[in-house]
Amino acid sequence: MEKKRGSFSSKMGFVLAAAGSAVGLGNIWRFPYLAAKYGGGIFLLIYLILTVTFGFTLMITEIAIGRKTGLSAVGAFKVLDKRFNFVGFFACLVPFIITPYYCVIGGWVIKYFVTFVTGHVADSASDTYFTTFTSQTVSPLVWFCIYVLLTAVIVILGVERGIETASRVIMPVLLVLIVGVTIYCITRPGAGEGVKYYLLPDFSKFSATTVLAAMGQLFYSLSLAMGIMITYGSYMKKDNNLEKSVRQIEIFDTCVAFLAGMMIVPSVFVFSGGNEEALSKGPSLMFITLPKVFDNMTFGGVIGAVFFLLVLFAALTSSISLMETTVSIVRDKFGWDRKKSTIVITIYVLILGAIVSLGFGPLSFIKIIGFGLLDFFDFISNSVLMPIVAILTCVCIGFFVGPKVIEDEVEINGEFKIKKFYRLMVKWVAPIFLIMVLIFAVSEAMGWISV
Ligand code: PHE
Repeated sequence: MEKKRGSFSSKMGFVLAAAGSAVGLGNIWRFPYLAAKYGGGIFLLIYLILTVTFGFTLMITEIAIGRKTGLSAVGAFKVLDKRFNFVGFFACLVPFIITPYYCVIGGWVIKYFVTFVTGHVADSASDTYFTTFTSQTVSPLVWFCIYVLLTAVIVILGVERGIETASRVIMPVLLVLIVGVTIYCITRPGAGEGVKYYLLPDFSKFSATTVLAAMGQLFYSLSLAMGIMITYGSYMKKDNNLEKSVRQIEIFDTCVAFLAGMMIVPSVFVFSGGNEEALSKGPSLMFITLPKVFDNMTFGGVIGAVFFLLVLFAALTSSISLMETTVSIVRDKFGWDRKKSTIVITIYVLILGAIVSLGFGPLSFIKIIGFGLLDFFDFISNSVLMPIVAILTCVCIGFFVGPKVIEDEVEINGEFKIKKFYRLMVKWVAPIFLIMVLIFAVSEAMGWISV
C-alpha cells in the first residue's frame, strides 16, 4: 500500500469509535418503537440473546478481517480469497448508499435541535411541522449541507486526530445526557405504567417475526455487513484484545438502545394516555410524536433541546464512520491521499443526498418500486444488501478461508474463549438464520406478508 494508514492510538479510542459507529439513529428512533411494537420485555430479551450470539460472531469476524488484512472491505476480501472479491464490492456499496441519506436525516436533527434551542417548541409540536419542513426545497438542503460538512471536517482530520478525538469527547457526553434525560422522563407522574409497558413481556405479541425483526435491527445497530467494522478493524493495533473490545462495543450499543427506549416509551405512553398506536408508528415517532411530548412536559423545551443534541451526537459518530469507510475504500482503490478522497466523497454525498432530500419536496413524484427515494435506498441497503453481505461473509470464512484464520487473529492476544461456539455460529447457525432474515425483510417490504 502506498499511503500510510492511520491507527487508533489506544484500546479505548478504538472501542469508543466503533461504539460511536454503532450507536446512532437506529438506537434512538428505531429500537424503542420496535421494542414497543414487538412485546416489550420479550423483545428486549431476544435482542440481548441475539447480540451476544449473532452480533458477536459477525462483529468479531469483521474486525478480525480488517485487522488481519489491514485493508478496507474491497481489498480485504480479495486478500482472503479472490473468489470473494465481489463480497467486498457489495459491502462497500452499502456505505455509499447509506451515507447520503443518513446525512439528510442528520440535517433534520440539527434543524430540530435549533428549533428547540431557539424556543420554538410549540411550533415543532404541530401536526404539520415536520412535513412542511421536509417538503421545502432550500431549508432541508441547508441543514443537510451543514451536517455533511460537520462530518467531513472530522473525517479529513484523520483517524486519530479526527475520529478518535471526536469519539472520545462525544461518546461519554452522550452517555451522560441520555442517562440524565432518561431519569427525568421516568420520574414524571404516571411514567411508571409506561416503564412497565416497556419492560414487562407481552407474550401475545411474540412470534417468529419478533425474532427476525430483532435480528434486522441488530445488524443495522451494530453497523455490521457494510465494511465499517472491517475498516475500523484495519486501524486497530495488534495488541488490543479483540474479544474484549467486541464485548465492550456491544455493551455500549445495547445500553444506549435500552436507555433510549426507557427515555421514549414511557414518555410517549403517558402523553398518549397509553395509546399503543402512537408508539408503534415508527419513524414519525421522533420527529412528530416526541416534540408533542416535550411540548407537554415541564421543562420540555430544555429536555427536548438536550434530546436532539444527544441524537445529533449519536448520528454524527455514525455518519463519520460511514464517510470514513467510503473514504478508505477510495484511498485503497485509487491511492489518493485522505484530503483528496474526503473532498471527492463529500461532493458525492452532497449531490446524492440533495436528491434524496428533494425527494420529500419537488422530487416527491419519484417512486421506485413504490418507495420514495430515502425509503428505497434504506430498503436496498438494509433489507437486501446487508443480509446478503453477512451471509456471504459467513460462507467465505466458514467454508473457504476457514474460521481458523479469524481465531488465530483473535488469539494474537489472549485465548479465544468461545472458539467452538464461534465455529458453529459462523458456519451454520448465522448463515441459515440470515437467509431467513433476508426473506422476511424483502417479503415485508414488498407487502407479501404483513406484520
Ligand atoms: N449503527 C447505526 C445506528 O444504529 C447506523 C449506521 C448504519 C451507522 C450504518 C453506520 C452505518 O444508527
